[in-house]
Amino acid sequence: MSAQKPLSISQLAHRLDGEASEVWAVHDRALDMKAQGEDVILLCVGDPDFPTPEPIFYQALAAMKRDRTHYSPAQGELALRQAVAELESKTSPHPCDADDIVIFPGGTNALYSVFSCICNAGDEVVVPDPMYVGYCGVFDAVGIKTVPVPLKAEANFALDMDAMKAAITENTKAVIVNTPGNPCGNMMSREELAELAAYTHERGVWLISDEVYSMITFKQRHVSLRAAAAQLDNVIMVDGLSKSHAMSGWRIGWVVAPQSLVPHLTNLAGASVFGCPQFIQDAAAFALRHDDYYVAQMRDEYKKRRDFLVARINEMPGVSAESPDAGMFVMMRTDKVAASGQVFAERLLDEAGVSVVPGAGFGDVTADYVRITLAQPIDILAQAMARMAAMLNGDSARVAG
Ligand SMILES: Cc1ncc(COP(=O)(O)O)c(C=O)c1O
Repeated sequence: MSAQKPLSISQLAHRLDGEASEVWAVHDRALDMKAQGEDVILLCVGDPDFPTPEPIFYQALAAMKRDRTHYSPAQGELALRQAVAELESKTSPHPCDADDIVIFPGGTNALYSVFSCICNAGDEVVVPDPMYVGYCGVFDAVGIKTVPVPLKAEANFALDMDAMKAAITENTKAVIVNTPGNPCGNMMSREELAELAAYTHERGVWLISDEVYSMITFKQRHVSLRAAAAQLDNVIMVDGLSKSHAMSGWRIGWVVAPQSLVPHLTNLAGASVFGCPQFIQDAAAFALRHDDYYVAQMRDEYKKRRDFLVARINEMPGVSAESPDAGMFVMMRTDKVAASGQVFAERLLDEAGVSVVPGAGFGDVTADYVRITLAQPIDILAQAMARMAAMLNGDSARVAG
């Protein structure tokens, strides 16, 4: 056979080589153990355990029966964009119009599309550390050079405004914040958002806020970046239904952006997604307009789980947790009982059959933590905590579970 010129693989594809391997290693091993019949409790993933509320499901079914199973506009169905615009207008002094919104199949794709439209490979983006692990794939795909801003454990990883501002240089193209945040559940205040918006505006830098946990708050109501910012021309907001409406598998997210960006986002959506399914967008529009009851129900349940988990952790020897203000996770500190969160997570899986995410996956500053999901019912969380307590007390953890 004659020698063949190697077929090409893009730089983008190569930038994603090895993506996420380490972060999910414990979880992947737990899945393998479970597949082999072992008794493993999975506390890694932030995928709501609640079923999607039935009325939403029936809306999708009815839409399918109405033949809403064809191509849809790249920017998104008008009815869904109007529903998002209503929500945004209700929570912000700035009116929001359906034209300011582009629909994407989930927040992840929305973020990828935003960064693809505002950054070139090699551009710098400032991001607080710890950060949502999914950003790494998005940044790598676009070729973004991240400038992490380490937050302090003593301040419970609250945003450090001075450090954020100091990290912005001539090379910075964008800043991203995540409020409420994954993994720590911190919420930015109106004042903080306004200050960062004003500063980035002055510096000619985009400010993106990822607000996918906006409806899962336990203390005070979420304040969106659009509500806090005085000027909106550098402000981009990403949200979606995966978490708040237990609709992770429906893949619906959106971007609210200034008019200078919307056509670019729409063009990219047209070139890549070519329109999200009509019947899913119909159901999503219904979900946003009829969600008060079940969003509140889910939020209350997450709160109960948070209170249970934090109290239970703080009763145990050597580990501790702060109570998060929002979101779907509790961060547990492990430095008194293990060399790192990674070592702890591996031991917890091996000795107790419980899988959690090592904190190093979110940033160096959380290397002595593990992240525990609230997306499991209290009885499962209770079993997992009993096993962990037995392990820490030197008893046979598996028997205790
Ligand atoms: C902070 C944050 N942003 C975005 C996403 C992406 O959500 P989706 O793509 O399901 O909308 C997640 C999912 O875990 C997340 O935690």
